[in-house]
Amino acid sequence: MPKWKKTAAALLAAFSLFGSGCAAIPDSGEAAATDRPGSTPAQYRVLTATDLHYLAPSLTDHGALFWQVMEAGDGKVTEYCDEITSAFLEEAAALQPDALILTGDLTFNGEEASHLALAEKLAATEAAGVPVFVLPGNHDLYRKCYSFLGESSEQVASILADEFRQIYAAFGYDEALALDADSLSYTAQLNESIRLLMLDANTPHDFCSLSGKTLAWAEEQLLAAEEAGQHVLVCCHQNLLKHSMFGTGYVLGCAEQLRALLEKYHVPLFLSGHLHIKHICTEGTVTDIATSPLTMAACQYGRLQLEDGVLTYDAEKVPVADWAARNGLKDENLLDFENYAIGRLETRTRVQAEGQLQKLGFPEEEILPLADFACALNNGYFTGDLTLIPGLDSNGSLLRQWKESGAFFASYFASIENEIGMDHTFWQMELP
Ligand SMILES: [Fe+2]
Repeated sequence: MPKWKKTAAALLAAFSLFGSGCAAIPDSGEAAATDRPGSTPAQYRVLTATDLHYLAPSLTDHGALFWQVMEAGDGKVTEYCDEITSAFLEEAAALQPDALILTGDLTFNGEEASHLALAEKLAATEAAGVPVFVLPGNHDLYRKCYSFLGESSEQVASILADEFRQIYAAFGYDEALALDADSLSYTAQLNESIRLLMLDANTPHDFCSLSGKTLAWAEEQLLAAEEAGQHVLVCCHQNLLKHSMFGTGYVLGCAEQLRALLEKYHVPLFLSGHLHIKHICTEGTVTDIATSPLTMAACQYGRLQLEDGVLTYDAEKVPVADWAARNGLKDENLLDFENYAIGRLETRTRVQAEGQLQKLGFPEEEILPLADFACALNNGYFTGDLTLIPGLDSNGSLLRQWKESGAFFASYFASIENEIGMDHTFWQMELP
C-alpha cells in the first residue's frame, strides 16, 4: 500500500493547517480511476524547494566581508539560511509528503562544506520518514568558492559531479531506477504509479542545456514510463520556458526539443527554479513552474499534489517565526521573519532604484514615491503575488514615470507590466 494511503487523513489535516490556497484542493474520498488503463490510481503529494543557496555555518562569521557580499547580492537572506533550512525541513517532516524534491542551487556557491552540512540535515529528514530527491544547480558544481570570515576570504574546496553523486547518494542516486551516463540525471519511483525524471543540465562547459545523449536517455525513460502505465513528474534546475526578459542562461538550450518530448509523452508539468522569481508559464500543453529561492523573501516552497485526476500546486511560506518561537530563540529578526526577509529584498531594490534616479537627476521629492513603488512591484514579482501592488494608483502615474525615466528599471518594469494582477503562487489543472 503506498504511504500516502496509509496517512491520507493525517496528511489532509497537516496540509490544511498551513494552507490558504488549498481551499480548491479536492477532499480525499475514494481515489478516482486513473486515466492510464491498467495502472493503479495516480496520486501523490510532494513538497518542492529550490535555490537554498545553503552556506555552511563553518564558512562564515557574518562579519564585514560577509555583509559586503550580501549588500552586493540580490536580497537573499543567507545570514539565516541555516535557520530557514532547519525550519523548512522540520515542516517537511511534519507534513510527511511522499517526497521532498530539491531542484538545485543547494549551496551558496558550490562549497564542499556546504554540501556536506546540507546532506547531514537531509539525512535527518529521511530518517523522519520523508524521501528526499535532489538535483544540482549551476551554483553547485565546478565552482570557485570562498569562505567569509572576518575581513578576509579564502578559497575553499568545491566539488565535481562524482562527488555530488556520492554526497547525495541517499537522496536519489542510490534508489534510482536509471542513471544517465552523461549527466547527473536520473529517474526514481515516487510511488507505485508515479516516476520522477530528474534532469541535470550542468556540465563543466554548459550550465544550461542537456546533451544529445541525455535527451535521448530522457526519451527512453519517458517511453519506459509510458509502457509501464506510469505518470511522470519532470524536474530540473533551469527553466523549460522563458519566464522573464532574461532568456539566455535561464532557458535550457534544448528547450524546444525537450518540450516536444514532454508533449509527445503527455507530461503536463515541469518543475524548475534558477530564476529567483516565483513564476508559472504555460506553452502548448506543458506548464513550467519556477519556484522562488527558499532563502529569499517570501521564503516559499511548493506543495504539489495529484488527487482525483486534479494536479494542484501552491506556494507556502516557511514558518520561520513559529519555528524560532518553538525553539525558544530570542533573535527578533527570526521572530518577525516575514517582515525581516521582505525588508532585505526591499533594501536591495531601494538602493538600486534611488541610485538610478539620482544618476538621472530626479529631484528628491520624486525619488521617494518612485522608489516605494519600485519596491512594491519588485516584491510582487519576486514572490509571485502581483494581485495587490501598493502605489499602483488608478491612472498608473508612478509606473508611467518609471517607464519614461530612461533608467534600467524602465525596461524591466515595462517587461513585467502585463504581470500586474497575476497570482503565480497557485496553479491547478485537471488531467485529460
Ligand atoms: Fe540560484
